[in-house]
Amino acid sequence: MTEEAPVDPTSTDAWKALAGIADGFSPDLRGWFDADPDRASRYTFQAADLTVDLSKGLVTEEILGHLLQLAKDSGVAERYEAMISGEHINVTEDRAVLHTALRRPATGELTPAKPFVVDGEDVDVEVHKTLDKVFGFAEKVRSGAWTGVTGKRIETVVNIGIGGSDLGPVMVYEALKPYVQKGLEARFVSNIDPSDIYEKTADLDAETTLFIVASKTFGTLETLTNARLAREWLWKQLGDSGALDDSDEARNGAVAKHFVAVSTALDKVKAFGIDPENAFGFWDWVGGRYSVDSAIGTSVVIAIGPDNWTEFLNGFHAVDEHMRTTPLEENVPVLMGLLNVWYSNFLKAQSHAVLPYTQYLHRFPAYLQQLTMESNGKMVRWDGSPVTTDTGEIFWGEPGTNGQHAFYQLIHQGTRLIPADFIAVANPAHPLKDDTGDGAAVAPGQDVHALFMANFFAQTKALAFGKTADEVRAEGTKEAVVPARTFSGNRPTTSILAPELTPSVVGQLIALYEHIVFTEGTIWGIDSFDQWGVELGKQLALQIAPAVDGDASALESQDSSTKALIARYLELRK
Ligand code: F6P
Repeated sequence: MTEEAPVDPTSTDAWKALAGIADGFSPDLRGWFDADPDRASRYTFQAADLTVDLSKGLVTEEILGHLLQLAKDSGVAERYEAMISGEHINVTEDRAVLHTALRRPATGELTPAKPFVVDGEDVDVEVHKTLDKVFGFAEKVRSGAWTGVTGKRIETVVNIGIGGSDLGPVMVYEALKPYVQKGLEARFVSNIDPSDIYEKTADLDAETTLFIVASKTFGTLETLTNARLAREWLWKQLGDSGALDDSDEARNGAVAKHFVAVSTALDKVKAFGIDPENAFGFWDWVGGRYSVDSAIGTSVVIAIGPDNWTEFLNGFHAVDEHMRTTPLEENVPVLMGLLNVWYSNFLKAQSHAVLPYTQYLHRFPAYLQQLTMESNGKMVRWDGSPVTTDTGEIFWGEPGTNGQHAFYQLIHQGTRLIPADFIAVANPAHPLKDDTGDGAAVAPGQDVHALFMANFFAQTKALAFGKTADEVRAEGTKEAVVPARTFSGNRPTTSILAPELTPSVVGQLIALYEHIVFTEGTIWGIDSFDQWGVELGKQLALQIAPAVDGDASALESQDSSTKALIARYLELRK
């Protein structure tokens, strides 16, 4: 434990002032915009390629001033410095937290300066050694130099992993689909539900399939079970087609050509039968949910290639540098983190929507769920004392416009405050036109992305400014339904606009949210880099497994509810 006791945010003058403002707070975005013609420009900031408009947030100069003071009192900038310098700020695991080191370029002026040695290791040398190894392997697969055991080139890469060893790679793969090499496909198996691996492999040709077993610990039940199922599947498929006999030598040879691994536990990789030559390491200073830009992303490197991956890493680094060098007053991740604190701790928002207006980011909300909630869903602080305020909002979302036709009703007119981040790009990957139009609302030749973006702009406008009862009446609406058709407005949103969904922009977005999480975690005084809360369920699953498999004495030792449920399951199980 190297860290001092955290500041209790609730004891600061800034917190007390914010609590005073929140008491009876009556936001007035219409009035605020009318009174201040510069509001939009004053609250619009740039972080690398991301233009971020906070002006439709429930924020005033006074509120922002106190929030910034809170960030200063909590030492956000100092702790970020400590993090990127390799201090063991993950105190419960006594580890450095160095995901920012994964994207330090090989050359150039850097802070911390080179050589950057942490715990006796030159971090830059290690990171780039592994990156070069991943790049070399990816090039071999992409070029066809790496083949399966029968000499055919690899067409499908199946990543087997869960949590941070799945959500990041799958999200980025989906986000960067337009960059995927023709003839290559990646799939992702995560769930221990056998249907997952069954469905993902059902139509595959084993001779052209490469499995990547991605697991930081190489001890995760789901991943190792799926890896064994995949290995059996490979042997069976190759055996059935006559490409493999059932000698150990043949089987091991097939594993060597069809399995690689990404892990910090290379001894366990070897025990599984994967040649450590075909294993890519990383370090315990990379948390699972912060690892997409490590070798954990190997499936994506194969799919999009080393050059695009380098751009992806550069995108992260640009936002890391923004976070490090920009004064708090203009620091986008800090400002967004502070606004989240304002909404959740003072205005009592419980959740936060993330609404990407680009279909390619359709897994971004799911990815953020692990990043934000596994990081900040904590009830004790880094010194073991109880937190002094609520922590960890519930993050959720779906791509626009799908969400509009599903849950936006609640965001517009429900009783709960739901701050929402709207994310869009100016240039679509596929600029299609609706040549026909509908002859009414949609003109022939309509740019469909423009129509899509009209929705993006309309939603944040409607949420901010609403529609008054008088405006509804003025449309000739019957008095009885005026209340139902009125929109209160003052529903806070942040708009994030990027030029296009490049690898760099995807990296920038991830780093932005990593540092938002960091800002909030620092203010709450929690260790955002451990995840003890997932352990109990894992332990109990192993303990309960014999009972579920029919062991009567194991069943007997369960509590009455669990026992009855398992008994019912056993009755139903054919
Ligand atoms: O269950 C939580 C967790 O430890 C995550 O933090 C992690 O991303 C995931 O499991 C997978 O772990 P591993 O990469 O070690 O298989």
